[in-house]
Amino acid sequence: MKILVTGGNGQLGSSLRKISGEYPQHAFLFTDMPEADITDKGCMSRLVSDNGIELIINCAAYTAVDKAESQPELAAKINIDGARILAEVAREHEAFLIHISTDYVFGGEGCHPLKEEDATAPIGVYGRTKRAGEEAVVAAGCRGAIIRTAWLYSEFGGNFVKTMLRLGSQRDNLNVVYDQIGTPTYATDLARAILVLAEKLQQERPGMEIYHFSNEGAVSWYDFAQAIFELSGLAVRVGAIETEQYPTPARRPAYSVLSKEKIKAAGVEVPYWRNSLIECLHILLQGTLN
Ligand SMILES: NC(=O)c1ccc[n+]([C@@H]2O[C@H](COP(=O)([O-])OP(=O)(O)OC[C@H]3O[C@@H](n4cnc5c(N)ncnc54)[C@H](OP(=O)(O)O)[C@@H]3O)[C@@H](O)[C@H]2O)c1
Repeated sequence: MKILVTGGNGQLGSSLRKISGEYPQHAFLFTDMPEADITDKGCMSRLVSDNGIELIINCAAYTAVDKAESQPELAAKINIDGARILAEVAREHEAFLIHISTDYVFGGEGCHPLKEEDATAPIGVYGRTKRAGEEAVVAAGCRGAIIRTAWLYSEFGGNFVKTMLRLGSQRDNLNVVYDQIGTPTYATDLARAILVLAEKLQQERPGMEIYHFSNEGAVSWYDFAQAIFELSGLAVRVGAIETEQYPTPARRPAYSVLSKEKIKAAGVEVPYWRNSLIECLHILLQGTLN
């Protein structure tokens, strides 16, 4: 398939680029700002028609969860208008769209893995714009998939794993919240899941389906930080604190573990979070892992 990747320099876009050579059956076109702005319909339309694109993978987003609270217009422009424009372009050119969304569309009140059809109730600007982006994609009437993911990390860009490695090399103790429970997602695993779904779209040509994908398991940020330090051999004492002891501009869901039953039934493998963390740390620490 001829595949357009938007937001190609971000964590997920870079992870797709990293593995793209393993998929010689596809031709990838990686794009990002400023030359390929997803909020510019003319530009997106030209990219799709000039290159005979059959699938758009939208990795572009406004992802700064705290900053979104003071930049709601910009977050809405990228996460809602951008998503709608890509979905319209996909429909008009009969291309598929795989759009990425987030566990932050949920409110976090429950304690059972969240299914695709569970009620959404975002509690911050970022989550609200991502939910409205999902609705815009569905309303546009193109074919494809919306994949909600969570706690993304990778070798690329800024993320929790890289922040912990940096802080762990500077400090011997650190406090991390233990009362937000979710599942980390290694962006390489998500990239592979996307390409499995891409094959399925091509074969089955469904309408627009929502799927959940994160790694397997459930942890707190405290557990995740502990594992990062343990696996990378950093002697850091981690204190467990409550969310209210670490105030941030945006509220985050207390529980956002995603159920992966639907995506597994579609043939996608879901690696256990700790195994994927080891894989990423191997790359980040260039074989110095003990
Ligand atoms: N990161 C997480 O923990 C997390 C969790 C759940 C879901 N997700 C979702 O997963 C997806 C991928 O996230 P990520 O962590 O890979 O994001 P990321 O690293 O922030 O990458 C997003 C990319 O999109 C680009 N971009 C921003 N505005 C754009 C526009 N108008 N047109 C084209 N490109 C634009 C960004 O460029 P600049 O850097 O120049 O702005 C960046 O290269 C997003 O949909 C996100 O909402 C992420």
